[in-house]
Amino acid sequence: MVDVKSICCIGAGYVGGPTCAVIAYKCHDIKVTIVDLNQARIDAWNSDKLPIYEPGLEEVVFDRRGKNLFFTTDVDAAILEADLIFVSVNTPTKKTGMGAGMAADLAYIEGATRRIAEIATSSKIVVEKSTVPCRTAESMRTILEANSTGSIHFDILSNPEFLAEGTAIKDLLNPDRVLIGALQTPTGLSAQQSLANVYKHWVPEDRVITTNLWSSELSKLAANALLAQRISSINALSAICEATGADVDEVAYACGRDSRLGSKFLKASVGFGGSCFQKDILNLVYLSTQLNLPEVADYWHQVVLMNEYQKKRFVRKIISTLFNTITNKRIAVLGFAFKKDTGDTRESAAITLIKDFIQENAHVAIYDPKVEPEQIYMDLMEPGVVDTRKQVEKSISICGDAYEACKGADAVVIVTEWDEFKSDQLDYQRIYDNMHKPAFLFDGRLLLDAAQIREIGFKVHIIGKNELAGTA
Ligand code: NAD
Ligand code: UGA
Repeated sequence: MVDVKSICCIGAGYVGGPTCAVIAYKCHDIKVTIVDLNQARIDAWNSDKLPIYEPGLEEVVFDRRGKNLFFTTDVDAAILEADLIFVSVNTPTKKTGMGAGMAADLAYIEGATRRIAEIATSSKIVVEKSTVPCRTAESMRTILEANSTGSIHFDILSNPEFLAEGTAIKDLLNPDRVLIGALQTPTGLSAQQSLANVYKHWVPEDRVITTNLWSSELSKLAANALLAQRISSINALSAICEATGADVDEVAYACGRDSRLGSKFLKASVGFGGSCFQKDILNLVYLSTQLNLPEVADYWHQVVLMNEYQKKRFVRKIISTLFNTITNKRIAVLGFAFKKDTGDTRESAAITLIKDFIQENAHVAIYDPKVEPEQIYMDLMEPGVVDTRKQVEKSISICGDAYEACKGADAVVIVTEWDEFKSDQLDYQRIYDNMHKPAFLFDGRLLLDAAQIREIGFKVHIIGKNELAGTA
């Protein structure tokens, strides 16, 4: 069995960076080198301002950087030196060609795999860390074997990552489980044990699950699909709540107290975002279609369709409440990230909402504590619709705090559940005093106490709640 002493991680993104930084933090006897083709990203990892915001990440990186943790664009040198290589590159939804809009784009996985095959001069354990369609490991193995000479052997493992952004460091330090899939051959099982031994530096043995390769690959897609399905389920119920006077928080609590259901991931919202839920479900839908299982494909697709419906339903509610027009009105949007405690905006509900507001000729004032203005401009440009930054600039202002965004607004829309938007942290009386009247507030995150906010004078709409709540 290989005693892993040197790890290379290809891809210094939201997964590769934190995951391998934690390995370095917990395994001082292992040299960890994280590589990327993106020079700016690597420069940021080597600077005081890391390229991603994650609570606890700075402490981990600053503690080990330059000791047993390195960030570099010298991909080849890191491959040569490593016993074990994590492939942690992006696997976005394909934009063009076969399977466009559904299938995962595996070009980055293939690029990294080919590089390993070209450069390696000794045997390696190659680990899929990225989320990939079931049986991707087989393609990787074919590429590696076709390009390797007789004396070099490659073992492929699947070790999907389950961290959530905003809690990545906590999740990595104390994971519910670590999943390692391997081919059930003597060398496959031995490689599986080598990687398990890395995690055993800090993860209790009973949390390291070993399976075959294909179970591991599919479990990752399945876990994301099941989590997203719960959100779409509670969001579907939120529409019924609004129409009947049931309260979605009460329904979620009552259901969640059933130990078979559990309370997590039942928070209704304006819709799930993030780089993975939609992408991974679409990937599962595509896989099911390819396997000639159309009913299975339709079943999972509905989770994504319900999410789109929830976003559009919220926009419609805002427009209809504002007397069916938001033209020339100022809409303050609080939050742009896809969830709190991250600066990541990928697939954030805020993007869909704000694009719709712009189409309706509203002026949108945006505040988010962590998202860079440049990112917001990029996210709101849409080829063929809003082509240039100048056009975006006409329709939005990016504000330094919530008070500035809400000043002179006709409506405030809470899109991200940042703690600083809670009613004990933000002075809603001050916000109200500086708004046009009637002052509307739409809470897409169930963050506020409606009665308290109404008392100030706001006209309030909270997802999954209705003014009739509590009445006969
Ligand atoms: P990311 O886009 O933040 O990072 C990927 C990095 O890989 C980029 O910096 C890119 O430049 C680099 N890269 C691509 N090809 C390369 C190559 N050939 N050589 C060197 N570098 C290369 O993506 P991410 O969010 O870190 O996600 C990576 C994978 O992990 C995806 O498959 C995703 O589904 C999965 N995942 C993500 C999360 C998450 O919270 N973001 C959680 C679990 C799993
Ligand atoms: C999710 C999974 O939770 C991770 O296990 C997985 O590793 C990751 O995807 C991935 O593969 O990328 P992430 O997207 O970072 O993690 O964050 P989540 O906490 O899952 O939130 C996703 C979205 O759902 C956010 O927009 C969040 O606000 C929303 N959400 C979450 C709800 O609307 N309601 C909930 O009850 C929970």
